Amino acid sequence: MSPPRSSRDRPNRPEEPLRVAVIGAGSSGLVTLRALAKRGIAAVGFERGSVVGGLWVRGSDSGHARVYDSLRINTSVAAMELSEFPMPRDCGDYPTHEVIARYFSDYAQRFALDRLVRFRTEVISIQEGEDGYEVASRSLDDGAMRRETFSAVVVATGHHHEPSLPNLPGSFEGPTLHASEYRNPKVPVDFEGRRVLVVGFGNSAVDIASELAERGGARSVHLSTRRGAWVLPRYLLGRPIDGKATIPLWIPGFLRRRIVTSLFTLLHGRMSKFGLPEPDHRIGEAHPTISSELPGLVRAGKISVVGDVAALEPGGVRLADGRFLDVDAIVFATGYRTVFPFLDPDHVRVEDNTVPLFERIFPPEHRRLFFVALAQTTGAIFPIAERQADLIARHLSGEYALPDREEMLEAIEAERRAIARRYVRSPRHTMQIDPEVYTKRIAKELARGQRRATHHRGLSFPSRP
Ligand SMILES: Cc1cc2nc3c(=O)[nH]c(=O)nc-3n(C[C@H](O)[C@H](O)[C@H](O)COP(=O)(O)OP(=O)(O)OC[C@H]3O[C@@H](n4cnc5c(N)ncnc54)[C@H](O)[C@@H]3O)c2cc1C
Ligand SMILES: NC(=O)c1ccc[n+]([C@@H]2O[C@H](COP(=O)([O-])OP(=O)(O)OC[C@H]3O[C@@H](n4cnc5c(N)ncnc54)[C@H](OP(=O)(O)O)[C@@H]3O)[C@@H](O)[C@H]2O)c1
Repeated sequence: MSPPRSSRDRPNRPEEPLRVAVIGAGSSGLVTLRALAKRGIAAVGFERGSVVGGLWVRGSDSGHARVYDSLRINTSVAAMELSEFPMPRDCGDYPTHEVIARYFSDYAQRFALDRLVRFRTEVISIQEGEDGYEVASRSLDDGAMRRETFSAVVVATGHHHEPSLPNLPGSFEGPTLHASEYRNPKVPVDFEGRRVLVVGFGNSAVDIASELAERGGARSVHLSTRRGAWVLPRYLLGRPIDGKATIPLWIPGFLRRRIVTSLFTLLHGRMSKFGLPEPDHRIGEAHPTISSELPGLVRAGKISVVGDVAALEPGGVRLADGRFLDVDAIVFATGYRTVFPFLDPDHVRVEDNTVPLFERIFPPEHRRLFFVALAQTTGAIFPIAERQADLIARHLSGEYALPDREEMLEAIEAERRAIARRYVRSPRHTMQIDPEVYTKRIAKELARGQRRATHHRGLSFPSRP
């Protein structure tokens, strides 16, 4: 006789049609709406701004645009394009932010996704109930509030919105801004003739410092880093640097990183050859800093690289090595903090700039809540977000079952330890993923979850009562 079924392994098919709320209509919200639509799952998108595309839309009224005029994507088109929608062939390998914004707008139109989105509508709070989440939203046009229950919520609000600023002692008299506010060398601050300090050594820092030194008319540009970085060119051996890895994945990660670092040093030269500090880690152990311009500008004396800032002073900054640096303006390109203002911290807590998630998607404690693109990848995020959305849609439609809570918690802990082993300790790396490793892992997990679903094992999406 077959054993009685527990509530855990009841049939995977939900009895009633599902209705899912997707918060955010940037690239991640769009791929989620598409994945749900493909499986016939009803969804409503909520978007603060008037258009899709999220942070790529210059001048968007969402308050979330994070582009400067000269921004070009730093993940190549081949690595970033979505599976069902090729990038235009004539846009080059690293197109401008306008091309990226148009690509997502065209994608939304092609699959009629914009029709699913309530624009100018902000989600204020979500609250888990017995049979779903109550989503409270507010119209940004007339302030009208609305409360509705959805079977599930997908959070696709991005994590590059809230500036992270260093807590430095002292005060500085000149203009200061965060990279998210920078638009060009004249806006919002006219940098012409100024001695500028750019703090940070990520992609925002090197892009902004290079622009100010090359075309911005700054009198001098200093770049402050507390650990150095491998500054990688956009191309290597005639190909975009983020092309398929030539070192097979079966070679252990630490060895691959050693080989890549040695080969790169051999072909390109050490960072110190360009006047840059030697990084305190290998390639692949920090989020990549990509710039074909910076090494030449440092070598030409147009940018000077300095160490960590210890304190602000009226006419400049005091560096950690005790030196005083005369500067007139400071750009903090010090990254972002992960925040979810609509989530009660007792429900989902952001710790160390991340949320513990199984496969960077599923919070083990909340079976009706999912996250898309709450990850920092060493490559392009878009195909990753597409795969995550696909997994969510398969879970909702009963094709993919999650493992037990304990197994999810173990996997989360294993991932946390793997990140700590591999990456430089920094809040910017606490949800770092390697796209090749992750893609392979998620494909295996999908196969495992499909078997669980077929055999009524694991955790299926809770059916409506
Ligand atoms: C300057 C910069 C350059 C980048 N370049 C690259 C790159 O080259 N390659 C790459 O792969 N990644 C890059 N990234 C990472 C970037 O985060 C992704 O490219 C991608 O845009 C993230 O998309 P998203 O949809 O997750 O988030 P976003 O694009 O931030 O979209 C989130 C959307 O959610 C909406 N929203 C937020 N809160 C609410 C709410 N409460 N209610 C309703 N709507 C809400 C916002 O209005 C926004 O439209 C870059 C990031 C920055 C800051
Ligand atoms: N062209 C492009 O496509 C482009 C351009 C800009 C940004 N982006 C992307 O946008 C995302 C955000 O990039 P970002 O450069 O703005 O942020 P980021 O990647 O988080 O880099 C922040 C930098 O600031 C440093 N930093 C942080 N806090 C500091 C502190 N208190 N004191 C001193 N230094 C500090 C970090 O150093 P530590 O490593 O020591 O923490 C790091 O060098 C990334 O995904 C990036 O790839 C892409």
